[in-house]
Amino acid sequence: MLELSGRTHRDGDLAIEAVDLRRRFGDTLAADGISLKVPRGSVFGLLGPNGAGKTTTVRMLTTLLRPDSGTARVAGYDVVRDAVEVRRRIGLVGQYAAVDEVLSGFQNLFMIGRLYGMNGAQAKKRANELLERFDLLEPGKKSVKTYSGGMRRRLDLAASLVVSPPILFLDEPTTGLDPNGRAATWDIISTMTKGGTTVMLTTQYLEEADQFAEQIAVIDHGKVVAEGTPAQLKARLGKSTLVVHLHDGMTEAKAIAAVTPFAASPPAVRQNELVVQLRDLDQTAEIIAALARVGGNLDQIHIAKASMDDVFFELTGKNRAQEGVAA
Ligand SMILES: Nc1ncnc2c1ncn2[C@@H]1O[C@H](COP(=O)(O)OP(=O)(O)OP(=O)(O)O)[C@@H](O)[C@H]1O
Ligand SMILES: [Mg+2]
Repeated sequence: MLELSGRTHRDGDLAIEAVDLRRRFGDTLAADGISLKVPRGSVFGLLGPNGAGKTTTVRMLTTLLRPDSGTARVAGYDVVRDAVEVRRRIGLVGQYAAVDEVLSGFQNLFMIGRLYGMNGAQAKKRANELLERFDLLEPGKKSVKTYSGGMRRRLDLAASLVVSPPILFLDEPTTGLDPNGRAATWDIISTMTKGGTTVMLTTQYLEEADQFAEQIAVIDHGKVVAEGTPAQLKARLGKSTLVVHLHDGMTEAKAIAAVTPFAASPPAVRQNELVVQLRDLDQTAEIIAALARVGGNLDQIHIAKASMDDVFFELTGKNRAQEGVAA
């Protein structure tokens, strides 16, 4: 695993600490030795493709699934021995909605407030506040059965925010939401983190992890394959890409000969472009000179800095199109 942060934490600073969590389902090692440290008050992103082990990890950390081996502490309590204490301190939005279909949106939120000890007036106020923030005031009066997927998703999220837990787990919180829903979600989450809430979220939206998580762990096949801040991951892993536009004066053969000395891997031809992963961005000037010698000019050369997509591909060998993830 690539440990990029080099940070150390005193145990008391950690909201979540997992050590070597393992869980098997039949022949599948859904979690194959997951270790994580999440400082209090931070937003931590678990990023990985379908089947990577994100939900399995979240379920173990939220006491819903017993690890085969390994340990985890959440808010200082062991997730197996002190499960009740852990549950008091966490909120969870699952990947699949968990609200009561028969009740209205308002009734769902109101009921949760009452269950957590709010009086009627407080529970009503909180329910209406959340319905308004998630643009559900009108639908909030109707039975959840009648909701669209996006509406249910927003209600599910609102449900986890009725009481503000110190640690919030969000399993793909914005999947299925339209841009407004995603923006509203992030608005609320950032308000909570300003108030000191620790957030662990799973996502397949790379730009979401990039934008919001302070620390990211990339997981694949049940293992953490890299960890660090988004900037660290990009700097360490994302090689810069050179794209050369091919034309009559710049044939594929000429371009390949010119760039190969600078390439990290064999150049690829895509339509009428040559795509090259560069070993070192500092060699830009030499590369441009080499291309100029075989007839290239600056208009036909483009250098892109690594994106989170590149990082993800580099680590897991999968891109989002292959995963079937909507942009
Ligand atoms: N209850 C279960 N029974 C059998 N196999 C399971 C079970 N839960 C998870 N798995 C398997 O464990 C692996 C990890 O699944 P998990 O749901 O943790 O992945 P994920 O990263 O959350 O994926 P997704 O992005 O699709 O939600 C997968 O191969 C999955 O099929
Ligand atoms: Mg999942």
